[in-house]
Amino acid sequence: MESVIIKDKRFEVNIPAAKIDQRVKELGAKLNEDLKNTRPIFVSVLNGSFMFAADLFREIKMEAEITFIRVSSYSGTESTGTVKSVVGIKENLEGRTVVIIEDIVDTGDTAIYLIDELKKQNPEKVLFASLLLKPDALRHPIKIDYVGFEVPNDFLVGYGLDYDGLGRNLKDIYKLA
Ligand code: IMP
Ligand code: MG
Repeated sequence: MESVIIKDKRFEVNIPAAKIDQRVKELGAKLNEDLKNTRPIFVSVLNGSFMFAADLFREIKMEAEITFIRVSSYSGTESTGTVKSVVGIKENLEGRTVVIIEDIVDTGDTAIYLIDELKKQNPEKVLFASLLLKPDALRHPIKIDYVGFEVPNDFLVGYGLDYDGLGRNLKDIYKLA
């Protein structure tokens, strides 16, 4: 098993890059189908989703916009459970089809918060796309419209996901060994 050391911990490959690429293409195709006849605005949640957002957005064939927001709710390998802040959107979302792009939904605290915040602007629709979902960690009854992979409650890094700021540049997704 291919492994890497990040700071004090060893991680091993969990989802190889080729599998991620293929799944991102599938999600893109689904979005193209579902959102045809709309001009969606994608909202990528920094920092974790930047790589997924870039790859997913390149699959989008209709006229579409992308913008970036930032929420902070996590440190080290354990969720703090509190969403600290959001750096807002300047675009007007009223009447728009909004697609939030996240790297991972863990407890769902961030997802709930973001959906509520963006709905305050009266969009036509708010959809949620997450590369990863930890169904066993979820503590809200939310529906994630587009999920790349359901994963167990392991700590993951790579393809945008970090361990204390490191590991985002890895092409594969790794899990704590
Ligand atoms: P939630 O609010 O508990 O759903 O946490 C969401 C955020 O926590 C994600 O956007 C990630 O930034 C971070 N996070 C959750 N699980 C992991 C993980 O396994 N690795 C890296 N970051 C994670
Ligand atoms: Mg994140």
